[in-house]
Amino acid sequence: MKRAFLILAATLVAFGLAGCGGQDVIKIGGVAPYTGEAATFGVSSKQGMELAIEEWNAAGGLLGKQIKLVFADDKGDPAEGATVYTKLIKQDEVVAIVGTVMSKVTLAGAPIAQNAGVPMISPTSTNTKVTEVGDYIFRACFIDPFQGTVGAKFAFEDLGARTAAAIFDVGNDYTKGLSEAFAAKFTELGGSMVAFEAHPTGATDFKAQLTKIVQANPDVLYVSDYYNDVALIAKQVRELGFTGPMVGGDGWDSPELTAIGGDAVENGFFTNHYSKDDTRPEVREFVAKFNAKFGAEPDALATLAYDGMYLMLSAIKNAGSTDGVAIKNSMKALRLPVVSGTVQFDENRNPVKSAVIIEIKGGKQVYRTTVNP
Ligand code: PHE
Repeated sequence: MKRAFLILAATLVAFGLAGCGGQDVIKIGGVAPYTGEAATFGVSSKQGMELAIEEWNAAGGLLGKQIKLVFADDKGDPAEGATVYTKLIKQDEVVAIVGTVMSKVTLAGAPIAQNAGVPMISPTSTNTKVTEVGDYIFRACFIDPFQGTVGAKFAFEDLGARTAAAIFDVGNDYTKGLSEAFAAKFTELGGSMVAFEAHPTGATDFKAQLTKIVQANPDVLYVSDYYNDVALIAKQVRELGFTGPMVGGDGWDSPELTAIGGDAVENGFFTNHYSKDDTRPEVREFVAKFNAKFGAEPDALATLAYDGMYLMLSAIKNAGSTDGVAIKNSMKALRLPVVSGTVQFDENRNPVKSAVIIEIKGGKQVYRTTVNP
């Protein structure tokens, strides 16, 4: 009798842990471009996610369970992004997704999460269309109309530019949208756009566009591409004789920018989400923790992925449940101080946050200033 009871008890425990469709861990999907054209974005993002999960697990986990990161590489490619979002949802049965990084890839993954009712937060996709996909889609960063405005005001007011040119990737919503936002604000301030040049995706020779730009003789060149393209554009435009300042967006944030671009990216400035040199105690503490674990300084990708994971885990904790509807409602109500600022979502699930301006000087990123919305 006693023995039968023990067997029954053991069976119940086993079922409680693993049976009845329940899981003994809470699985969160993480997506970033770990390989491909912007691989440093993915490496940093994965580190940020891992650090957040490690801290939560050390502090007791989530809803009484340990958290497991199921990470997938989208390779910076929209088609691959769609494939891995489907895999995470259907095969791994993650309860939520933190990802992905590049807007063009997030725009491919988000409809899949939305249709499946799986809440997701993109740490760093700044294109406006991302959260327009639906009510399960959030982001942890500001959006490009703001980022472009900050860049244009900096060019006009701080650099004193009155004429500007822009170059962007025609097949990338992020770079196109950001250049358009810059141009709109620069013009509104009283400046004039003397050239606005699209280049094809995957180009390595930008001389045709840059020759037109140099001939138009702008005071400033706006480059809204990711770091790999920015470095090549900078080298080529310097070769063509342009010595003026270049301004760009968060896509510049990579250790590879100066490694590839060298002297050509000097006199360069970009808007970003955060600076490791910010003196706020939250930032100091995070930089120290990150450095201790990875032996490197966190860039904005690492920081926002850490923040994005924190926001998602907090929403699940507050919901007291891993149900998609409960998580998304809890996310909407969230107001949480994280490393990159205090996040509270507006009615379009975008947080309102400040931007920083970084200058490339002596091969290093130097913090210039913080701009509030
Ligand atoms: N904002 C970029 C995009 O939407 C991604 C990015 C964020 C790149 C932060 C670098 C740093 O595509």
